[in-house]
Amino acid sequence: MKKSSNSNAFPNVRLRRLRTTPAVRDLLQETRLSAKDLIAPVFVQEGLKKPEEIGSMPDIQRLPLSRLAGEVERIMDLGISAIILFGLPSHKDAEATSAFDDRGIVQKSVELVRKQFGNKVAIVTDVCLCQYTTHGHCGLVVDKKIDNDRSIDTLAKVAVSHAKAGADIVAPSAMMDGQVQAIRKGLDASGFSEVAIMGYSAKQASPLYAPFRDAAHSAPEFGDRCTYQMPFSNAKEAMREIETDIAEGVDIVMIKPAIPYLDLIYKARQATNLPICAYSVSGEYALIKAAAMNGWVDENAVMTEFLTSIKRAGANVIITYQAKKMAELLSR
Ligand code: PBG
Ligand code: ZN
Repeated sequence: MKKSSNSNAFPNVRLRRLRTTPAVRDLLQETRLSAKDLIAPVFVQEGLKKPEEIGSMPDIQRLPLSRLAGEVERIMDLGISAIILFGLPSHKDAEATSAFDDRGIVQKSVELVRKQFGNKVAIVTDVCLCQYTTHGHCGLVVDKKIDNDRSIDTLAKVAVSHAKAGADIVAPSAMMDGQVQAIRKGLDASGFSEVAIMGYSAKQASPLYAPFRDAAHSAPEFGDRCTYQMPFSNAKEAMREIETDIAEGVDIVMIKPAIPYLDLIYKARQATNLPICAYSVSGEYALIKAAAMNGWVDENAVMTEFLTSIKRAGANVIITYQAKKMAELLSR
């Protein structure tokens, strides 16, 4: 703290002078949101005939491939320049084969968006196995246990197939040890050294993912994700996750969920100059939405406060299910 700032306090120092009118407050606003900070999530489901509502995520839909271009167009019209794609395959098996199928749902989606919109949109893909495995775990399972080292080979194959389809950024969310290194090696060996990796570095084992698992049909059939996702009590361990991802060559680090973990976003900001992404997850969305639908809070006001706080804590980019709503509000 600089000594001079408050040394000659009241009545000389009156902080309310800085808050007198909307124009003065606007001038002095320290953190500003922009549509360019936001990544809009998109769920695409193979074999779907028409868009499907998601019960626990009001206003969010699963889309058939035929509706993807229209959705991306709406997103871009609002000034948002990035999407993150989540695929729902029609076929699941123990080896997650449809996750790395070149004709898979994410691969087709990436191709379509790239073809239609060129490089005007940044395409991020979620790289995981849980939507694609019969057991719903993020890694391959042998005798009810996760086989970490075989899982990362499969994750690398998934990432390469996304890159082949035209993804700009692949985002591994499985929380397997060594996943970033395995993917970096796989991408480089296949000629995709320019494809970036956004690591879901500090991904908490959070009950706030429940609506997403409902949306993506990806809840684990047995057990939970606690042997791979982070215990939310451990800030030092979160920093180790971030450090290991950086050592493995990650290009962007992510912290997830966002609002309960502003401390981790802030710590990460102090620790690295890499871009930091915060993922405001499905449960954060559902909490705001439920209260707003009851008339208990003002959705736009809460959305603005939460997203501004996430940016103030140190995130450069934010994945949020309110991306379109926020961008629209910002454009008014
Ligand atoms: C898949 C994945 C999940 C989320 C993003 N990618 C679910 C999970 O780990 O169970 C959560 C996103 C959200 O809740 O919005 N691994
Ligand atoms: Zn997963």
